Amino acid sequence: MTAIPPEDRAQDVLAPPAMAAIFLTLTVRPGGEDAVREALSGLAGLTRAIGFRVPEAQLSCVVGVGARLWDRMYDAPRPVRLHTFEPVVGAQHTAVSTPGDLLFHVRATRQDLCFELCYQVMRGLDGSVDAVDEVHGFRYWDERDLLGFVDGTESPTSRVAAAAAGFVGDEDPYYVGGSYVIVQKYLHDLAAWDKLSVEEQELAVGRRKLSDIELPDGVKPPNSHVAATTIVDPDGTERQILRHNMPFGNVAAGEFGTYFIGYAADPAVIEHMLQRMFIGEPPGNTDRILDFSTAVTGSLFFVPPADFLEDPDTVVAAASSRGLATANNDTMPSDGSLGIGSLRRSNGS
Ligand code: HEM
Repeated sequence: MTAIPPEDRAQDVLAPPAMAAIFLTLTVRPGGEDAVREALSGLAGLTRAIGFRVPEAQLSCVVGVGARLWDRMYDAPRPVRLHTFEPVVGAQHTAVSTPGDLLFHVRATRQDLCFELCYQVMRGLDGSVDAVDEVHGFRYWDERDLLGFVDGTESPTSRVAAAAAGFVGDEDPYYVGGSYVIVQKYLHDLAAWDKLSVEEQELAVGRRKLSDIELPDGVKPPNSHVAATTIVDPDGTERQILRHNMPFGNVAAGEFGTYFIGYAADPAVIEHMLQRMFIGEPPGNTDRILDFSTAVTGSLFFVPPADFLEDPDTVVAAASSRGLATANNDTMPSDGSLGIGSLRRSNGS
């Protein structure tokens, strides 16, 4: 049997950089679990119903489920690395942890389709959920953040590298093709940032502002953002994550932000980056961009494989019948598919 790559069981995590996005965070009311599970199983169909009429808009939706909701909603083992987001508290900066049972990451080339999908999701969940945060992101010039730097350059783009960084493999056999996602909403003090010279800003980020070229070692300070978020294993392998950050803002309110969203096969990689940014390695070597950027939210979710989302009971029943009672059990079918389910193809059908 041909092995099915994890990314072919995955939700649309690998969608291309978007022109528009909505990041919607919800909590689920007690008693709302059945309605939510039902709605999530129909989410791919709802996305098709809206997106099919305007295929060039490339509408996509990824949903993540928080640890507390997982145990309330699914009669299925908890993904082995799913937990609530732990705040990262340094001497000067804190990565806060804020509530969130569900995250919808909606992307398209047009904001109206993102809006329509979120509207229909909320209509379907009326009475079962409360919205805790909604951020409308937009593409700013050539993929720049509101600090003026190109954001996303070193996020892996090849399918193989992106899948290796982003998707759960055989270490959690129920959930091959799943992903962990951490989100944080950052607000920038643009007035203070703009007082820096371009050279000082480049030292804070670790790349040139206009050309986006990385500063050479020896010039790039250890407290630059790029240095803080570069993690290299003892064997020299660089640990990567998938980033789909988007700027957002409200000029009347003086609000200028970056919505950080990082996907990983193992959330510990992102958590390690956060330790390096907020506490510093060694302690005190904190990320310079935090002097101008404050994290006001922080949550962690598991992004289930698409077939599990659509029909969790069948996936779990089939896994159980194959004796797959615990994670790390070696009785998986060789194609990694659990032998059932309607696998989502890469063309979205
Ligand atoms: C205020 C929020 C943030 C802003 C404005 C921001 C912006 C940027 C920019 C401009 C770059 C350089 C270009 C690129 O490779 O994308 C970058 C790189 C990167 N960022 Fe961030 N980022 C933010 C938060 C975070 C957080 C919270 C993490 C992880 C926990 C992170 C992880 C990374 C990584 C891994 C790289 C690539 C480093 C490399 O290998 O060169 N970023 N970010």
